[in-house]
Amino acid sequence: MRGVLKETAAYNHDSMRGLVLAGGKGSRLRPFTYSGAKQLVPIANTPVLHFPVRQLVEAGITEIGIIVGDTGQQIREAMGDGPGFGARFTFIPQPEPLGIAHAVAIARPFLGEEPFILYLGDNVLSGGIVGFVERFRGSNAAAAVILRQVADPRAFGVAEMEGGRLARVVEKPSIPPSDLAVIGVYAFRGAVFDVIDRQSPSPRGELEIADSINGLLAAGRPVDVSLTGEYWIDTGKMEDMLHANQVILDSMPGQIECGARLVDSEVEGAVSIGAGAEVDGCRLVGPLVIGAGARLRGCRIGPYVAIGARCELTEVAIRNSIVMEDSIIAACPEIADSMIGRNVRVAGAPAGARLTLGDHSRVEAAE
Ligand code: TTP
Repeated sequence: MRGVLKETAAYNHDSMRGLVLAGGKGSRLRPFTYSGAKQLVPIANTPVLHFPVRQLVEAGITEIGIIVGDTGQQIREAMGDGPGFGARFTFIPQPEPLGIAHAVAIARPFLGEEPFILYLGDNVLSGGIVGFVERFRGSNAAAAVILRQVADPRAFGVAEMEGGRLARVVEKPSIPPSDLAVIGVYAFRGAVFDVIDRQSPSPRGELEIADSINGLLAAGRPVDVSLTGEYWIDTGKMEDMLHANQVILDSMPGQIECGARLVDSEVEGAVSIGAGAEVDGCRLVGPLVIGAGARLRGCRIGPYVAIGARCELTEVAIRNSIVMEDSIIAACPEIADSMIGRNVRVAGAPAGARLTLGDHSRVEAAE
């Protein structure tokens, strides 16, 4: 009886902490990560990092540690201290991106003895994590993972299942043991630190979170699994960003903020226009979002386009693309499937142009 009570007391935490990873190298998302943090690249005009933070808050987790690397200053400035999200942030510098389990280890003083949710700051999961967090709170599991069926599991940590239980996580296997990827949201209790303390770097030089989970399993600690059918994407590459942009835009109802001005323009579908934006002589086909203070003249926008705040577009047709803040684009008869960074200038591009332009790029059409 005493043993049972002790077990209950040990796990009966009402409070949980969140740990969001916003360091790393971002090498797969160049050129956007040359000048900025990949977690701040906007999807439907919202920096990716907002999604994990909002979902943690929605699940009642407001003490949130944010792991930062080289781009730490930018992330602090963009996120603030947390009140804007109903949370309190503690920024935890990681001197080098030595792996996800390494980031967890350096956050130990912040995490203390509380169970915590680890959320990779470049992952977008629809539907939130309320159910997952509640289930973990009510369980005695040492960890919990979320699995998602994927078409090609070879790029992910993949679950090897035995009789409905997780037997092992295999990192980027050439022959996957299942089609179930481990997504970038995990729950842990303090036992994980004992495992990480004994871990050594993988062949790619990182402390792998897959090894931490396998260490818990090897020690006979229960690891809970949930399956999700929700949309999930690890926004590592440009195509992923454009896809996530489509999915988030599809979920937006459309809203024209007061102070936005529409003149001689046609609007079709879910269109969101920010305060102070001016749209003159344009055809807008949603879903799409136009940021505050943007100015558009003689354009055809959409579907699936996000135009950042204060952009200026003149005589441009654009679909399935992201244009970040403060960019100026003119005389482009057809831009598609493009990602255009902040403060970019494009003056003329051939029809059918598919552009990938890092922040501050300049493009001028040849005479
Ligand atoms: P990854 O996408 O696995 O790694 P990365 O950011 O280095 O990217 P790339 O492979 O393109 O070079 O990282 C997942 C998330 O975790 C991402 O938000 C970065 C963050 N991260 C850290 O904060 N510290 C780390 O040591 C690592 C490896 C990742």
